[in-house]
Amino acid sequence: MLRFAQENGHARSTLFAPTVSELNSQGSVHRWYNYLEEFPYQLIEDKIKAYQLPPQALVVEPFAGSGTTLVSANFFGCNAVGFDANPLMTFISQVKTTWQIDLKQYKEIVYQISQEFIAQIAEVDNLSLGQGFLDYMPKKELNQWLSPGLQKEVFLLKTIIDKVENQTIRHTLRLALAKACFDGSYVALCPGTTFYPFREKEEFWDLFAQKVMQIHDDLSQVQQHNHYGYSKLINDTCLNAKAYLEPNSVDFIITSPPYPNDLEYTRQTRLELYLLDFVKNMNDVQQIKRQMVKGSTKLIFKESNSAEFIKGFAEVVKVSDHVYEQTKDKNWGFDYPRMVREYFGDMYICMREFYDLLKPDAHFLLVVGDQTVKGVYIPVCDLLIQMAESLGYRDCRKELFRMRRSTGHDIPLPEEIVILKK
Ligand SMILES: C[S@@+](CC[C@H](N)C(=O)[O-])C[C@H]1O[C@@H](n2cnc3c(N)ncnc32)[C@H](O)[C@@H]1O
Repeated sequence: MLRFAQENGHARSTLFAPTVSELNSQGSVHRWYNYLEEFPYQLIEDKIKAYQLPPQALVVEPFAGSGTTLVSANFFGCNAVGFDANPLMTFISQVKTTWQIDLKQYKEIVYQISQEFIAQIAEVDNLSLGQGFLDYMPKKELNQWLSPGLQKEVFLLKTIIDKVENQTIRHTLRLALAKACFDGSYVALCPGTTFYPFREKEEFWDLFAQKVMQIHDDLSQVQQHNHYGYSKLINDTCLNAKAYLEPNSVDFIITSPPYPNDLEYTRQTRLELYLLDFVKNMNDVQQIKRQMVKGSTKLIFKESNSAEFIKGFAEVVKVSDHVYEQTKDKNWGFDYPRMVREYFGDMYICMREFYDLLKPDAHFLLVVGDQTVKGVYIPVCDLLIQMAESLGYRDCRKELFRMRRSTGHDIPLPEEIVILKK
């Protein structure tokens, strides 16, 4: 079991001072909590430089996820605003962009936590742990994610962390707890959300200790520079961005939005949503799902009506009809044509919402991939460009980012950067 020394001399990172570019490209801070769908840190740096964004420029990330855009934007002196419909992701991004932590106090608190955890873990079966995620998370799901022993260890550590008074440090430790819990769980996110109950996993405490030390080491390097930008996170749908930002105020938008690939983001993050008290039941989960761009059939509700906005786009209607033809005689897949229409309707609203918020001549970059849905090729990038042009964006084009293979088909799928200018 990894143990913490109360005072362990100089952090190794004080021996040399990496540049901000080195911090970014080596994944400092980014690696605290990674997301399967995140995009490369280097890309954000390249674009901030290519578009010559000055210090204090306002960068917006409509689909913040694990915060790649925000962390890189802050590294290079830009301020950032990030939206995410999932409260876990705004929490993660907020922690990952909060670098003013007293590291001496952090180490002392971590030492006390480790002492308390070690003292109590042997007795964990006899402890009365009170109410919490173990009671709220549906039993079947909980047991799919975590072994019975791990459930108790995680709950004990959470109870100890929740008593930490310094809010910034408590939040940072809650991120470390969530990541260690996820990494110690039975889940693998590829393909889909799959559970492997017999897979050997590293000890939970060691995973937590490594994460806590990684955060400490990264921060001690990051704190050697002091000209960073700041981030603000908003837990709401970005389709409602005008409620939070002034017209003509945004210098740059770069994002990797959901794709119409049937990925349901609350499923991937279900464990952490319950663990960190963001949800207490399936109703709470449903509320989050209702706010999401409908790139999955599981995100469509009776009242969903974004499809209204794509009626004038013949190409979108055509691909949706094509998907219908592929699925109409089957007893599966009947929701997919609707998903395609709802998805493009949501992306239309998103691009319309941000048009007014961008400064004149400012750019909106979307890293997005073409997709196949039930065997039908969906030229996502071209369809987004058509919609963007109708909204008044100029010089719309795409730049190849990389090629992927679709699962189940042998069709190479381009992933492109769609570039729009106000
Ligand atoms: C592809 S991921 C973004 C990954 C991100 N670029 C990163 O580096 O981690 C898409 C994110 O969009 C969020 N999302 C989906 N619909 C949304 C909406 N309507 N408004 C804001 N966020 C949304 C999901 O919760 C998910 O975190």
